[in-house]
Order: sequence, then structure tokens, then C-alpha cells
Amino acid sequence: MANIYGYEVLHGVGTFEETAPDSTEMAARLAAVLARGLPWVVVEDDTGRVIGFAYAGPYRLRSAYRYSVEDSVYVAPEARGQGVGRAALQRVIADCEALGLHQMVAVIGDASNTGSIGLHSSLGFSLAGALPAVGFKHGRWLDVVLMVRPLNGGSRRPPEGLGLAL
Ligand SMILES: CC(C)(COP(=O)(O)OP(=O)(O)OC[C@H]1O[C@@H](n2cnc3c(N)ncnc32)[C@H](O)[C@@H]1OP(=O)(O)O)[C@@H](O)C(=O)NCCC(=O)NCCS
Repeated sequence: MANIYGYEVLHGVGTFEETAPDSTEMAARLAAVLARGLPWVVVEDDTGRVIGFAYAGPYRLRSAYRYSVEDSVYVAPEARGQGVGRAALQRVIADCEALGLHQMVAVIGDASNTGSIGLHSSLGFSLAGALPAVGFKHGRWLDVVLMVRPLNGGSRRPPEGLGLAL
């Protein structure tokens, strides 16, 4: 997973990080997600090699955000376009619904990221807005595209559980 994510850090615009975290740091991020009871899904190929992953983290840490999460999804370059991202994110969405959460937010870098925008659209996310030129990477300004997907009826229903402990 560190390799897959590191590739995007160094060569892509899907993340605004510019220094690739090593596997120890990735393990710490994984542990932090699991410690909150949130899902982290790993996809392997037939040989057991990791080809993609997706997870949900808190959207923001102030307590009123406790029913919202932000998703992340990364697929190895050679495994893209084969349904790996969809399978992983679909499972994360299902798990977050089971947790009683109400909104999933995709913070997508950059407006040129047709793969991520297409994947999220295909799983029921709709465009919520865009932040122009909030990032600068690879020598150019980067936008953020915000997409949202209601969980458990979104704003149409009151929350039932306690949400995330923030
Ligand atoms: C975005 C990403 C995770 C998509 O994963 P993937 O495994 O390639 O996507 P899938 O094959 O599961 O595609 C699922 C759907 O997404 C859409 N999609 C995927 N790639 C697309 C592309 N390049 N252009 C338009 N739509 C695309 C399609 O609707 C597709 O369904 P279809 O194949 O039935 O048409 C992958 O391209 C990736 O890792 N990109 C770099 C990292 C990144 O940007 N992550 C998101 C951070 S916000």
C-alpha cells in the first residue's frame, strides 16, 4: 500500500502530499482508521499481491462532524480500469452505512482527475463544489473537487447511533 500511495504522491495529483510516507507511517494510518472502528479495505490479485485499497477517515474532527466521513481510494497504476477501485470503495460505503454514518465526502485532487470523479459518480456521489487553485504541485495550481454521497438517507433522516467519537 505504501508503494501504491507513494506512486500517486510522487507522480499524481490525487493526493496533495508531496513526500511519500514509508510503510511504517502507512501502518500507523491504517491502525488509526481501525482504532476508530472505520473500514480499511485491501484488494489483492490472484497471487496475493496488493493492487488497491480504500478507507474512510473522519471528514473533520470537530464533534458536529461525527456522522460524516471522507473516503480515500488508490489503485496500482497497472491495475486501474478493471473494477478494483469500485469494489474497494463500494465495500467502504457499505461498511460506513452499517456504522450509522450519514455523509461521505470525496475531496478530489484535481479537477483533471477524471478517474476519481468518474469512479465517485458511478457510486452515487454528486458534485458539491470546487475549490480553485488551493494546491500547488508538479509546478502548477491544483483544484479540489468536492463530491458527496448520502449514507442512510443523508439529511432526510435523523441519526440513530452516536456517530464517530471525535
Ligand atoms: C481513481 C481510481 C481509484 C479509480 O480506480 P479504478 O480501479 O481504476 O476504477 P474502476 O475500474 O473500479 O472504475 C469504476 C468506475 O469509475 C469510472 N472510471 C474509472 N476510471 C475512469 C476514467 N479514467 N475516466 C472516467 N471514468 C472512470 C467509471 O465509471 C468506472 O466504471 P466502468 O468501468 O463501468 O465505466 C484510480 O484511477 C486511481 O488510483 N487513481 C489515482 C489515485 C486517485 O486519484 N485516487 C482518488 C483520490 S481522491
